Amino acid sequence: MNIAASVGPALALEVADAQSIAELRHQAEGCTRCDLYRNATQIVFGEGPGAAEIVLVGEQPGDQEDVTGRPFVGPAGRLLDACLEEAGLDRRRCYVTNAVKHFKFTPRGKRRLHAKPNAGEIRRCAWWLGAELNILQPKLVVSLGASALYALLGPKAKLTPERGHILHPANHPPVLVTIHPSFLLRVRDEAERHRLHLEFVSDLHKAAEFGAR
Ligand code: URA
Repeated sequence: MNIAASVGPALALEVADAQSIAELRHQAEGCTRCDLYRNATQIVFGEGPGAAEIVLVGEQPGDQEDVTGRPFVGPAGRLLDACLEEAGLDRRRCYVTNAVKHFKFTPRGKRRLHAKPNAGEIRRCAWWLGAELNILQPKLVVSLGASALYALLGPKAKLTPERGHILHPANHPPVLVTIHPSFLLRVRDEAERHRLHLEFVSDLHKAAEFGAR
């Protein structure tokens, strides 16, 4: 696959211009680049050290992230934390962000059910993700799930065949492709869930080793 041709596409040809993550976050607070800001409580921007060598990219904030304003603090985040720990990767040394920065949901009674962001929303939000990566210049980007992969590498990159691989797109930091932790939460079969869990931890371990180089 010629990843080079599809790099950052998705990642927008143009991205926000800022000197620091703090400045970028400030700009993003007023984001109206797509309609998702209308129903979300607030923008959930990336967080982590400015010198982070590893950037983790998820899909979009969930219900708890929307309320707290912090990425990966709900059930998927807790599972991610446990898997990172098993893999020997310290979350506090990573920058954690999402392809899409506002929570997209469908109201169902009192609940707000996660709704998948579409390609246009991901592309519009790449304005922020691309700028985060420009500022951070990480050693490695870990792509969690299909939406992150789309945001990072465009439509040609496919999760299943690339899972567990580190791709080296031109003009872009290397990307480790793996699943999204919420996928593990949805697998009913215990043996299958255990197998996928081990694979996920092994992928994160690769990221830890890469970051330590
Ligand atoms: N899922 C994501 O992709 N990101 C979060 O921040 C939380 C859940």
